[in-house]
Amino acid sequence: MYILGIETSCDDTAAAVIKAEGGLKKPSFSVLSNLSYSQVATHRKFGGVVPNLASRDHLKKIIPTIKTALERARLKEKQIDLIAVTRGPGLAPSLLVGINTARALAYAWKKPVIGVNHIEGHIYSNWLEPIGVNPKSEARNPKQIKFPALILIVSGGHTELVLMQNYGKYKIIGWTRDDAAGEAFDKTARLLGLRYPGGPAIAAEADKFKILNLKFKITLPRPMINSNDFDFSFSGLKTAVLYAYQDLIKKYAPKVIRPAMSFEVQQAITEVLVAKTLKAAKKYRPKTVMIAGGVAANKNLREKMTETFGFLKIPFLVPEMPYTTDNAAMIAACGYFRHLAKKTSRDSWKKIKMSANLKL
Ligand code: KG4
Ligand code: ZN
Repeated sequence: MYILGIETSCDDTAAAVIKAEGGLKKPSFSVLSNLSYSQVATHRKFGGVVPNLASRDHLKKIIPTIKTALERARLKEKQIDLIAVTRGPGLAPSLLVGINTARALAYAWKKPVIGVNHIEGHIYSNWLEPIGVNPKSEARNPKQIKFPALILIVSGGHTELVLMQNYGKYKIIGWTRDDAAGEAFDKTARLLGLRYPGGPAIAAEADKFKILNLKFKITLPRPMINSNDFDFSFSGLKTAVLYAYQDLIKKYAPKVIRPAMSFEVQQAITEVLVAKTLKAAKKYRPKTVMIAGGVAANKNLREKMTETFGFLKIPFLVPEMPYTTDNAAMIAACGYFRHLAKKTSRDSWKKIKMSANLKL
């Protein structure tokens, strides 16, 4: 079936069209188009996302983005079998734009529509191949994901370790007690005077560090790395960054401190994430380990995770880069599984509800 995905939970206006087949036994997806309009330019001067401005931008871009997604997929609306839209968690003013657009299209096109959990959507980013790659090609094999799977979800608002028993069956075994991993990147970046979003900015500065030969060393804490559970805490990291920065600025220029501090921030976050995922893997013995969410775009994290689980010979997956940060292809893929579990009807547009605090 052809599925149109719509995602507007935060500051990306995204639409995608995928072809989904195989059912629960052999699910496979071809991404036909995957569009995302980033609002970074709107929010950058405020250092973070401003919900009302986000909603205004979504309103402006949502229809053109959907139109282009259909054109790139070379499909007409009558060929779409299902619409999947993010219904939460996220910013209410942003979510409402996507949900109401999906409802209106479902009503006008007489198609079923299904509401998707954004975090669950991130999980399914691991099932997707880049545009143009045949999911059945032997070379890549449709990522044979076996259950139970252990998933580390790391985004701007969430940090969770999830045990996935089967499609739609999740058990959260650990979460953050304060800031999310992405939030830690964003907040420490702000303290260092780097631009929003902080994750890519910190990663770029950390890369510069490797070629510098500095006279000082920064050591930051690895919060809760040895705690006897699978929980995280990142709020102490920003305080440690602030104090270390205030100390170093007396002697060194910001352009020297930034790469060194960024390198250590990235290192600290990565080490904690890898250690806790490894600890969970040792206890639950999953058949697959995956990461998902915007922070999964981090090269250092991808490499360290791949190395760790490669060494243990546990199959490990990272989402392809276009599907790490917020996108609509993952929402469409999640919509497929939701549809298989609970067949959708043509009047389903009446039933969709927004839930800004929706849980997995
Ligand atoms: O999943 P996502 O796109 O949106 C949410 O659902 O929150 O995640 C956004 C988060 C932001 O905190 C951003 O700084 C972080 O992902 N991020 C990264 C990188 N790219 C995005 N963090 C570290 N390294 C990156 N390369
Ligand atoms: Zn997200």
